[in-house]
Amino acid sequence: MMRNLHLVRSFCSQIKPYSFVTTPIFYVNAAPHIGHLYSAVIADAIHRFNGLVNRPQSSHSTSIFCTGTDEHGTKIQQAAQNHSVPVATYCQQISDRYRGLFNNFDISHTRFIRTTDQDHMLAVQHFWKALEATGNIYSAQYSGWYCIPDETFLTESQLKENDQGIKMSAESGHPVEWTEEKNFMFRLNCYQDDVVHWIKGCKDRVVPEKFQKILLDFLQDPLPDISISRPKTRVSWGVEVPSDSSQSVYVWLDALVNYLTVAGYPKEEFRQKWPPTVQVLGKDILKFHGVYWPAFLIAAGLEPPKQLLVHSHWTVDNQKMSKSKFNVIDPNERAVLYTPEGIRYFLLREGVAHSDGNYSDTKICRILNAELADTFGNLLSRCCGKVLNPEAVIPVVDRASLESLLAIEATQRMLDLLHELPEKTRLNYQQYNFYLVVDCVIQMLHATNNFFETTTPWKCKGPDGKPKLQTILAVTMEVLRQTAIILQPIVPRLSGQVLDKLNVSGDHRSWCDLKVQFSQRERPLADSESVLFRRIVLPKTETPVPVSKAKKVKTKS
Ligand code: ME8
Ligand code: MG
Repeated sequence: MMRNLHLVRSFCSQIKPYSFVTTPIFYVNAAPHIGHLYSAVIADAIHRFNGLVNRPQSSHSTSIFCTGTDEHGTKIQQAAQNHSVPVATYCQQISDRYRGLFNNFDISHTRFIRTTDQDHMLAVQHFWKALEATGNIYSAQYSGWYCIPDETFLTESQLKENDQGIKMSAESGHPVEWTEEKNFMFRLNCYQDDVVHWIKGCKDRVVPEKFQKILLDFLQDPLPDISISRPKTRVSWGVEVPSDSSQSVYVWLDALVNYLTVAGYPKEEFRQKWPPTVQVLGKDILKFHGVYWPAFLIAAGLEPPKQLLVHSHWTVDNQKMSKSKFNVIDPNERAVLYTPEGIRYFLLREGVAHSDGNYSDTKICRILNAELADTFGNLLSRCCGKVLNPEAVIPVVDRASLESLLAIEATQRMLDLLHELPEKTRLNYQQYNFYLVVDCVIQMLHATNNFFETTTPWKCKGPDGKPKLQTILAVTMEVLRQTAIILQPIVPRLSGQVLDKLNVSGDHRSWCDLKVQFSQRERPLADSESVLFRRIVLPKTETPVPVSKAKKVKTKS
């Protein structure tokens, strides 16, 4: 049955002038690792890019970028118990670690939401009532397999048995337990066609395409209705069902509503902001965001998100990150060695959404040294350093020198790349191909280093050589200005440092400032650090810092 087809159809037509980007909200059962940071860095880059492109026509502050922590449910109750800490205190501690991590890595969220926030708990209850009022909820005696680590009920076909005959989730490998209880159920089955229609309704609804296929395959079989509450006797740490104080709202319904809360739901103004323009998530939670979430929204008469961006997982030395293997990567620990910017760069440079990426210290060192230190940093120090630029200025271009430099192939190649750069990188950002943005930028910088080598500015001596020297420096600085503007969403601090050095004012750092411009008059360079990124020297051992061994608060698997 296609109940709300008219809603799904009309959903595609409205284009909102701002951006609304989300990350999943993370369970506070253990401390964050590099995978959680990855989702946040992707979303941050999207949010920052949207800000660069939309400015100055619309104000950046109207955009929403939310992240936060998912704090209710059995999994969290148990984690607090294992640490002998009251559950509220435990949530606060781990939530603070996420907040601290995101601060350290310049994640520019406009709201850090916790599911224990008052406004969120009220939003969940309001949403529940909306589903109830539209006849989407009924009460039932429920029995089935529940998987606590995944906080989900599973059908027989979603299970497998291990060698000892213990039943577990076929997808995650986590154990399940038999449960029989009174639950409230949601009529998911009624919305199957609506969800398929939503997915197919817009090009690029779920990207990369492979995840859209997985979803549509999953939607080939009839969807069972799902349980959306648990008895309070089992799950005391949760939002109370409005009409039945003996029941707690199912954690996934609670968690998904966070995206509505940040828009201001249930206050009417939330409609101005709804729906999210892109929701970033890992492939492990595709079903919840690609099936349950749109179904809940359509059932409540609300528009589902415009787009889901699904990413794959990080592995360590080609093995799944796992607590028991002691191979989880703690981003804060690694940042001591590589800096937060170095890690942001690595994640977006190496990560591709459609397949798993492998974290290795050897690789991160090689990339950061080769690209940030020896290519980007080298070019900056070459043209700002005392040897070639003793007066520390941004010189003017000498037209005659430029003419003769243009006769050299290396100059032509560099300028051709520079002309193509804004459009190419804009497209790559819009398709969330951050690695290709970096590829274009690095290719541009290599061509510029090559231009430098070929034109040998260090040989331009005396007053006769000065116009040529100045022209080479000015052209190189123009490349640096543009590449720094382009890299802001990926490495905001390093790009800011380059733009500061080049005395580019804060209101000239947007996408619309990416037109070749040479200064008409000589301007001073800022008196700031011109070493952009210090080379990393790895200790003799293969692994520079010990991976997080058992700590007081363990890192998640
Ligand atoms: O699922 N590589 O929270 P969670 C890349 N609370 N990303 C990874 C990763 C890895 N190895 N490991 C985790 C939950 N992630 C729910 C979400 S949303 C309404 C509720 C990232 O703490 C990735 O985004 O288990 C994944 O989907 C998410 O963390 C799961 O975080
Ligand atoms: Mg998980």
